[in-house]
Amino acid sequence: MVAERANGQKRRRKVRIRWGRFLVSLVIAAALLAGIGFAAANAISGGAALGFVRQLLGGEGGGAGHQGGEEADGGAGDAGLAGSGAGEVQPEGADGADGTEGADGGGLQAGADDARPEAAPFKGLYYYESDKLDRYVAYAAEHSGLSAGDVVWRVNIKLDKPFYTDIEIIEDVYSLPVLVNKYYRLPDDFAPKEFAKIGGGYRVTPETAAAYESMAADAEAAGMALRPGSAYRTIEYQVNLYARYKSEDGEAAADTYSSRPGHSEHHTGRTIDLVGPTGTLNGFTGTEEAAWVAENAHKYGFIVRYTAENEEITGYMPESWHITYVGAEAAGTMKKENIRSLEEYMVKYVYHSQ
Ligand code: DAL
Ligand code: ZN
Repeated sequence: MVAERANGQKRRRKVRIRWGRFLVSLVIAAALLAGIGFAAANAISGGAALGFVRQLLGGEGGGAGHQGGEEADGGAGDAGLAGSGAGEVQPEGADGADGTEGADGGGLQAGADDARPEAAPFKGLYYYESDKLDRYVAYAAEHSGLSAGDVVWRVNIKLDKPFYTDIEIIEDVYSLPVLVNKYYRLPDDFAPKEFAKIGGGYRVTPETAAAYESMAADAEAAGMALRPGSAYRTIEYQVNLYARYKSEDGEAAADTYSSRPGHSEHHTGRTIDLVGPTGTLNGFTGTEEAAWVAENAHKYGFIVRYTAENEEITGYMPESWHITYVGAEAAGTMKKENIRSLEEYMVKYVYHSQ
């Protein structure tokens, strides 16, 4: 029995050893084959195999262009609108995150991409992010008129993805400036810490109020009258407002002039809508006050947030009346450097610095 058991154990051990060698050989052979295949694919497609691996490991979001359109806003307690209306239609996106951003680069080493020939036009830019190279390449191919710099900051800010996809909840909710747009939303329980009142009883943050009062006083000295028609809005308020616009005009049209709840700058308490002589938002457009604000708002730390020049970036129709307090430094730099959107400013001056 003992001998039998001893022999049996010996035999089993021998068999195990043979299996072990076999498995080791198999692994080596598979690794060799995979290496040859990968090298061949890379040589043939100039990095397509790398892209394939990146997709397997992490995945990249799809690209899409955007179009802006007309505008309207208003609601209970806010200034009325002088007409809304659908403009150009933008692609509809799903509510919520699509999960495509995640780990860009899928775990590959960031530096590895910089050696790829496709990186050459982009990698010298200080706001280049090597894990986004495939997205830069794809976006550049779809937007042949754009400079490499424009491609990079746009992709960094997610413009290669449809609006209202890959949504992130803003963490630094009280930072100045803060980017609130169709990709970055405020937490549902967000509210400004403090309020102060401006003309008409509208509420904004104290620093916004002080900047606004200073601007309004200078406008008055120049013979003009600024009048707010909307300012701070709760997220609950925007739920009803957006729902009403959506039911009246449809989602695609509503998205061109009204923010989905959580995505409105009005929640920050740093935004004011100005009205024209008849008390409407649209009535502000074309007034001498609108021209004065466009020219001077930066001196007080405000920007006109939605303009014809940045419609494609923000996804909103121009709103001559919607001014946002971003602080004198940001507003001044944007004016001086002709930076036409807060999105571009954030990439070039906040998320990266020279
Ligand atoms: N009208 C702007 C886009 C808003 O709803 O915040
Ligand atoms: Zn507004």
